[in-house]
Amino acid sequence: MSTLLDIEDLIYSKKPEKNNNIIWEKHKLMINNRRYLGSKQRLIPFIKEIIAQECRDIKVFADIFAGTGVVAYEFNNINTKIIVNDILYSNYLAYMTWFSDDYYDFDKISKLIKEFNNIVGTKDNYVSKNFGGTYFTIENARKIGVIREEIESMVDITPREKAILITSLLYAMDKVANTCGHYDAYRKTLDTTEPLYLQVPAIKSKTTNKRNMIFNEDANKLVRRISSDLVYIDTPYNSRQYSDTYHLLENIARWEKPEVSGIARKMVDRSKIKSNYCTVKAPEVFDDLITNIDSKYILVSYSNMGQKGNGRSNAKISDEEILEVLGRKGKVKVFHTNFQYFTTGKTQLEDHKERLFLCVLN
Ligand SMILES: C[S@@+](CC[C@H](N)C(=O)[O-])C[C@H]1O[C@@H](n2cnc3c(N)ncnc32)[C@H](O)[C@@H]1O
Repeated sequence: MSTLLDIEDLIYSKKPEKNNNIIWEKHKLMINNRRYLGSKQRLIPFIKEIIAQECRDIKVFADIFAGTGVVAYEFNNINTKIIVNDILYSNYLAYMTWFSDDYYDFDKISKLIKEFNNIVGTKDNYVSKNFGGTYFTIENARKIGVIREEIESMVDITPREKAILITSLLYAMDKVANTCGHYDAYRKTLDTTEPLYLQVPAIKSKTTNKRNMIFNEDANKLVRRISSDLVYIDTPYNSRQYSDTYHLLENIARWEKPEVSGIARKMVDRSKIKSNYCTVKAPEVFDDLITNIDSKYILVSYSNMGQKGNGRSNAKISDEEILEVLGRKGKVKVFHTNFQYFTTGKTQLEDHKERLFLCVLN
C-alpha cells in the first residue's frame, strides 16, 4: 500500500549515535540537505525576486545545468512544469527522486531504508577497498558497498524506486564523507566517524510533479529539442570539472566499479562527463547554447569571482562575451544582489559576486 508523503509530513525514527545512544529525529530528507559547489541555494530569494519583477506567465521553467536541482525545486508547483537536466548521472538520479511523477511505493522505500541502516558490513568490497580509511571509515565504506550492491541486485523495484534509494545513499554518504564538501581530495585526518545513516526523502506529491521532464545530457544538445518560458543557466564558470569534484558520488551512482587512480581515486575514464564550459571552448559553446534556445526569457548566473584568464579559478567567459551573445538574442539587463540593474552598454559592470543576466527574447 503506498502513501504519498506530503512535504509537511514527518516520520520519526531512531538514529544511532557514535556512543550507541539512541536519539529520535525527524526523518525528513530535503533536496538541499547536501553540499555542492556553486549551489545557488542562498541566491534563491534573489532569483525569485527578479523573475517576479521582470517575467510574466512562466508555465514551463527549464533548469538545464541544475546541479542539486534546488533552483528548479523552488518553481516546482502544480501550475509550473519543470525541465531539469545535468550532465552528471548522480544528479539525474536525484531529479528522478525529487521531480518525477512516476509511481513509487512509499512504505516499501521506508522499510528498505530502515533495513539498510541496520546493515553491518563485515567483509571488504569495492567501496572499502578503494575509499575506506580515506574518504570514509572502513565500517561506513563497507556498509556503502553492501547497500549499493543490494540495490543493484533488487528485481522487484521500479527505476524511480531505485533512484530514490540511491539518492538517499548518496546524501547519507555526503554527510559522513571525510572531505571539505567535494571529492577532489579527502582530509588527512579521518575524523568524520559518525555512522552512515540513510533518510527517507520528503518528496512533493505526484500532482505537483506532474508533467515534469528530467534529462541527463549535454545541455547544448538538449536545448535543440525543448521549448520553455524561462531557461535558467548556471554553467560551471572555471576550469574545475564537476566530474572531478563529484567523481565518487558519480562512481557509486553508476556502479560500474571502474578502476580508480591517483591519490583522489578518481575513475580513470571520465571523458563522457567532462564539460566544455570548463575549457577554452566555453565562449564558443555558450554562444551555441544561447543561439539554440527556444524560450521567452533566458536567465544566466555567472560568477565574476575571477577575471577571464588562464588560472584554475579564472572565469572562462568574460562579461563582454556574455552580453554580446545574449544581446544578439534579445534585450539584456544585468542585476546584482542589491537588485539594481543597468542595460547593455550603458555602464561598466561593477565587481559584484553574484549577478544575473536576464535576456527578454525578441
Ligand atoms: C554551477 S553548477 C549548478 C548549480 C545549481 N544551479 C545548484 O544550485 O545546485 C553547474 C552544473 O552544470 C553541470 N554541467 C556542466 N557542463 C554541463 C553540460 N554541458 N550540460 C549539462 N550540465 C552540465 C555540472 O555537472 C554542474 O552540476
